[in-house]
Amino acid sequence: MNTIIQKVEKEHPDETVLKQAGEILKSGGLVAFPTETVYGLGGDGLNARSSEKIYAAKGRPSDNPLIIHISDMESLDRIVSYVPEKARKLAEKYWPGPLTMIFQKSEEVPLETTGGLDSVAVRMPSHKTARMLIRYGGGYVAAPSANTSGRPSPTKASHVIEDLNGKVEMILDGGEVGIGLESTIVDFTEEIPVILRPGYINQEMLEEVLGQVRMDKGLLITDTGIRPKAPGMKYRHYAPKAQLTIIEGNTEAVVQEINRRCQDGEAAGLRAGVIGTDETVSAYHAQVVKSIGTRQDEESIARHLFGILREFDEEKVDMIFSESFETPRMGQAIMNRLLKAAGHHIIKV
Ligand code: TXA
Ligand code: MG
Repeated sequence: MNTIIQKVEKEHPDETVLKQAGEILKSGGLVAFPTETVYGLGGDGLNARSSEKIYAAKGRPSDNPLIIHISDMESLDRIVSYVPEKARKLAEKYWPGPLTMIFQKSEEVPLETTGGLDSVAVRMPSHKTARMLIRYGGGYVAAPSANTSGRPSPTKASHVIEDLNGKVEMILDGGEVGIGLESTIVDFTEEIPVILRPGYINQEMLEEVLGQVRMDKGLLITDTGIRPKAPGMKYRHYAPKAQLTIIEGNTEAVVQEINRRCQDGEAAGLRAGVIGTDETVSAYHAQVVKSIGTRQDEESIARHLFGILREFDEEKVDMIFSESFETPRMGQAIMNRLLKAAGHHIIKV
C-alpha cells in the first residue's frame, strides 16, 4: 500500500487535508494522527472491519481493546450504556485532554473494537488535528498508539513512519507531541473508580474531583499472578532491543554504579548506553550517553522517554542503564513505562 504522508500545522490544520483523511476513515481505511499524548492509529470505531485492520497493521493481539476517540460530549451516549455522575464531573474538568474513561458499552460498539469486552474505553483529545479528524471521520475514531505492538509509543511522525509506512492509507505529520506518555485510564465500571494506567493526570488530580480512587492491583504488584485489568498492560512493552536496567539510589551512587557496570561490559566487548539527565550526562563514561531531559522540568523527561528508547535501538548497544525518575508529579506514569521497558529489571544502590 502506498501511504500518503501529509504535514499538518498544529494550530491551523488544513481543512482539505483533514476532510480527505476523514473520508479515508469513513470508507474503512486507517489514518495515523497526532494527539497531545502520543500518535494514534485511527479507524472507524463503529466498523468491525476497521478495527480488525488496526490489529493487523500493529501486529497487536486482538484481545487488547481499542480506545474510541470522540470530539464532543453529545457523542458519548451513543456508545455507552451508562455514565456515572462522578465520571461526568471528571469529564467536565479534564475533557478534552489526556484522560480515558471506561464504561459499559452500548450495542453500537462492535466487540472487535473492545477486544471482546462488554466495556468500552473513551477519550476526548484536545489536539486540534485529532479533533478535526474525528469530526470529519464520522465522530468515533478507534485509535491505539500508532506503533508496532511491543515498540515504544510514537511521539513524532518519523516513529510512525518507521513502524507503519506501507501499512496504512495516511499518516498526518503534526510534529512532536506535547506530553509524550499515553493518557491516564480510569475505569468507571466499578463502584470506586480504578486507575488502570497512570498518566499526565495523576492520582492526586483525580482524587480532587472523585474522592476515593484505587490503583489497579496488577499495576502495583509485578511478581505475582495478579493481572492488570487493562489487557494491554500485561504485554511486554516499549522494550528496546538491548536489556535495559534501571539503577535507583542517590545520584552519586547511581552514577558510580552505572559507570562501573559500563566499564565491566566494555571490558567484555559489549557496547553500553546510558540514559542520564542534563544534570548528570557529563559524569558518565560509556560509549553512548544520552540525556532524557532535565530534573528541573519533569515534563521534559516524560516527553523524551519513548523517543530515547527508539534512539538506543539505532545505536546498536548491547546493554542500557538508566537513572530512575521518581519525580513529584509524573513519576508514577514515567516509572510505569520505564519499568515495563526494563522488564522490571531494577537495582537499588
Ligand atoms: O493517549 C492515549 O491513550 C493514546 C492516544 C492515541 O489516544 N492511545 C493509546 O491506546 O494509548 P493503546 O491502545 O495503545 O492503549 C490503550 C490501553 C490498552 O492497555 C488497553 O488494554 C486498555 O487501554 N483498554 C482499552 N479498552 C479497555 C477496556 N474496555 N477495559 C480495560 N482496558 C481497556
Ligand atoms: Mg499502545
